Amino acid sequence: MCALGLTGAYLARHGFDVTAFDITEEMIDEGKRRIGSIENLKMYVADICGFSFEDAPYDFTYVEKQDLHLLPSIDEVQKALSAIHAQLRPGGAAVLELTLPSGESFQHDKRTFQPRVPNYTDKKVWKEHEGYYDAETKINHINQTVVIETGSGIERIPYSISLRYYERDLMLSVLDRCGFTVQNEFKNREREPWREGDYEWIVEAIKR
Ligand SMILES: C[S@@+](CC[C@H](N)C(=O)[O-])C[C@H]1O[C@@H](n2cnc3c(N)ncnc32)[C@H](O)[C@@H]1O
Repeated sequence: MCALGLTGAYLARHGFDVTAFDITEEMIDEGKRRIGSIENLKMYVADICGFSFEDAPYDFTYVEKQDLHLLPSIDEVQKALSAIHAQLRPGGAAVLELTLPSGESFQHDKRTFQPRVPNYTDKKVWKEHEGYYDAETKINHINQTVVIETGSGIERIPYSISLRYYERDLMLSVLDRCGFTVQNEFKNREREPWREGDYEWIVEAIKR
């Protein structure tokens, strides 16, 4: 779920041998175009629910912020964790950046995201974002619009995504069923310990 593979490129530039993959071919093509070739970074098109690569077994796997929540059901999450498990060496680590469900529904304020680096000189491109989280279903509904402004007008391309959150106990039992032992739980990338009531949940799990 690497999208353009920027995190993979960061790790590779710091000396790790990295494999990054995404189910969307355009993402990998565009990532390769932007990043260029880095000897120790491989990028593939693959589905996290059933991937396998010839470089396995790996020492470490990483699914970035919220990405696992894009999968359509807990069964698919289990398939993804089983595939990750199969590709790790015994004692290898999986780090998952997850969000736990809030007990209360809420609306997201409308936000606009500008590209960090302007990619075009002949047009302006930005993204608008709004949505709501439904505590009943534990689904975060996000509506985004890519807006493209050129000299001849404005084009708007709307799309929606749903992020499905799961209770910690359910995720722990799925991790256990897939053959992982949870070694650490953090509430942020600064590795502060996770406490009951924290919604951000970073899990460090080891392949048994
Ligand atoms: C929000 S983006 C990831 C962003 C990335 N983590 C980053 O920070 O650059 C989510 C990505 O997950 C990918 N994706 C969705 N379902 C997938 C699947 N089943 N297997 C692999 N990738 C998937 C999408 O194509 C999309 O590029």
